[in-house]
Amino acid sequence: MLLTDEEKRMLEGDMGYAVQKSMQILTALGESFGAERMVEIRTAHLPGVSIEVAGEAGAQFLESMSSQGGRFRVYTTTNICSIDFDRWEELGILPEDARVQAKMSKACADMGALLLHSCIPYDLGHVPRLGDHVAWGESSAVMYANSVLGARTNKEGGPSALAAAITSRAPAYGMHLPENRHASVVVKITTPLEGITDYGTLGYFAGKKAKDAIVVFTGMDALASNDELKFLGASFSSSSSASMFHAVGVTPEAPTLTAALGGKEPQRVVEFGELEKRETTEHLNREKQGSLDWVVIGCPHVSNDEVKQIALGLQGKQVNPAVKMWILCPAMVREFAMRSGYADMIAKAGAELVSDTCPVVMTAGTLRNLGFQTLATNSAKLVNCMPGGGLRIHYGDLNRLVKAAIAGKWGDSHG
Ligand code: F3S
Repeated sequence: MLLTDEEKRMLEGDMGYAVQKSMQILTALGESFGAERMVEIRTAHLPGVSIEVAGEAGAQFLESMSSQGGRFRVYTTTNICSIDFDRWEELGILPEDARVQAKMSKACADMGALLLHSCIPYDLGHVPRLGDHVAWGESSAVMYANSVLGARTNKEGGPSALAAAITSRAPAYGMHLPENRHASVVVKITTPLEGITDYGTLGYFAGKKAKDAIVVFTGMDALASNDELKFLGASFSSSSSASMFHAVGVTPEAPTLTAALGGKEPQRVVEFGELEKRETTEHLNREKQGSLDWVVIGCPHVSNDEVKQIALGLQGKQVNPAVKMWILCPAMVREFAMRSGYADMIAKAGAELVSDTCPVVMTAGTLRNLGFQTLATNSAKLVNCMPGGGLRIHYGDLNRLVKAAIAGKWGDSHG
C-alpha cells in the first residue's frame, strides 16, 4: 500500500506501540482487500465491546492498548454491550458479566470513547455527513451510515474499528470507493408499508433475494421516517452481506434510479407486493400460537419517538404477570423517557426499559439464567440473529405485541 510519511512513521513505531499495532492491523487488512492507500476517517463506532463477542481476552486487549498509549484521534462511540449498566442485577444479568463488561468499557473510555453502548449512534449525536469516511461496526449502524447518511464505511470488526480510531485511518476499499456504492438489484415496492415492522419485513425480503448485492428500492414513500429506514436497513443487514441500500427519492445517493444504478442496467428486478409481504411476515412469525413469557421491542434500539409511541400504546393497559416485556434503548433515551413521563407510563403497564444491551449480545450464561422459553418481537433482525437454544419465536407489529403481552399468549386472535 502507498502510505503517507505520517502513516509510515506510525507503522515504524515512532508514535508508540498502540499506534504501531493499529497500523499493522490496518495495512494487513488493506493488503488482503487490495487497497492501494488509506483514507482519513472523521469518526469511529466500536463494535466488539461486549463480552459476549470479545470475552475476557477482548477486555485484556483493550486494557493493554490503553495502557500502552492508545488514544482515539477521532470522535469515537461504543456499540451495544452485554449488560444494562444501571439495572443489571435486577434484570438477572450475571455478576461476572457485569465485572468483565465494566473493565472493557472503562478501557474504551480511557482511550477517549463516549460510552453510548447503543447500535443507533446516529440518533445520539454521532452523525457523520454525506461523503465522510468513517469506521463503524455493527451491521445495522453501518447500513444506516452508508445508506441514510451517505457516509462511507465498511463493516468494521472490533480490532479494525479500534485501530482506525487510534490512527484516524482506514484502508481505502469497499464502501470507501464511489464505484462500489452502486446498486445492481432493483426491488419494486407495490404494496403499502404500514409502519416500521413492514419496513423490517421488506428489508429481510430484499436481503434474501439480493444476497450480497446492493439493492435500490423504488416506490418508497419519500417521507419514510428515520425509524422506518432504520428498521429496513437492520433487517436487510441481517439477511444479506451488503453494507448499503438505496431508495429512489429517499436516500441521498439515489436522486434517480439511474444514479443509484451507476448508469448500468440492473442484474435483477424483484417485486415486493402484498403476497411477498404476507409470505415474508408468515415466514418470520416462526410459531403461530402458544403461551408467551418474553416480549422484546428495540432491535435496533428504540428512538425517543418510538418510546413515546410505545408508552402511549401501553397507556391504561397491563402486561400479563407471566410476561416480561422489554423495551431496549440507549441510556440517553431512557433518561428522556424518565423526564417526559413515558418511563412511568411504561412501568405502570408492567413493561420495562432495558438500556445498553440486547439479547443477541447478552452472554449465554445470562440467557440461561433468564430462562425464557419464548420471544415475541417486531424486529426481523432479532428473529434472524437471536442465538438458538430452543426459544419459540413470534413476529408481529407493535399492536400485536401489546395485545399478546396483555393476553400472555400469541395467537391468531391477537392479530
Ligand atoms: Fe442492535 Fe442488538 Fe438488534 S445490536 S440491531 S439491538 S441485535
